Amino acid sequence: MLNFAIDVARDAGALLMQRLGVAKITKKGDIDLVTEADLASESLIIERIRSYYPQHGILAEESGEAVLSGGQRSEWKWIIDPLDGTTNYAHAYPCFAVSIGLERAGVLEIGVVYDPVRDEMFAAERGQGTTLNGRQIRVSDIEELNNALLCTGFPYNVRERPDATRDFANFMMAAQGVRRDGSAALDLAYVACGRFDGFWEDGLSPWDIAAGALLIEEARGKVTNFDNRPLSIYTKKVLATNGLVHDAMLRVLHHGV
Ligand code: IPD
Ligand code: CA
Ligand code: CA
Repeated sequence: MLNFAIDVARDAGALLMQRLGVAKITKKGDIDLVTEADLASESLIIERIRSYYPQHGILAEESGEAVLSGGQRSEWKWIIDPLDGTTNYAHAYPCFAVSIGLERAGVLEIGVVYDPVRDEMFAAERGQGTTLNGRQIRVSDIEELNNALLCTGFPYNVRERPDATRDFANFMMAAQGVRRDGSAALDLAYVACGRFDGFWEDGLSPWDIAAGALLIEEARGKVTNFDNRPLSIYTKKVLATNGLVHDAMLRVLHHGV
């Protein structure tokens, strides 16, 4: 199933590249967008799952939770973001990804994040570690927040969320640098391979997190909510780190600098 997820993510990524700069864009909300490419990528992924694993459940960003024929239930659930980084994509800013996770009875078993711009395939299977283009990767060994490169993201309702800019300002003061790249799935993949030492965001959805969370766990990092409890991908607050700067980041989130 990992190879299946890798193949599908690669094909969906190729579709995104073909339509980059030409896909029609529509607004879902005041600042929230969807493009033809989001929808086409999601259809491609769902059709492929339906033909290979017709009994499996699906939760996808644009079409929601799929109902199985005859009202059946499955312990398997594919969790899909067909295009993470839609605002970037709509502006041809080359930072976006396809994210595919697979849960079994609520436990993440497989996670794949594919960046078609750089042709980088991040993949993990529970108990087997995490790879980038087939090579094993691990989180960084940075211990001090002062030496850490962090990343964050803002939800679409950021204009109603003053705490988001407060946390951003606090981390700017505490860390070596802070980035906001616009694709939570890639941000998590970058923590898994050590490019970032930590990531936080409040306002995420399961499809943003599912694959990336497993990438980090399997790369020996740590993923929790803002209260240091084990992550549920169905809660919105995510703190993902190399493990070493986790407590320091929790302190900043709770007490500032
Ligand atoms: C968004 C991106 C962004 C994050 C937002 C997400 P989308 O996903 O991951 O980095 O800050 O919270 O909604 O809409 O581009 O799939
Ligand atoms: Ca997303
Ligand atoms: Ca998306």
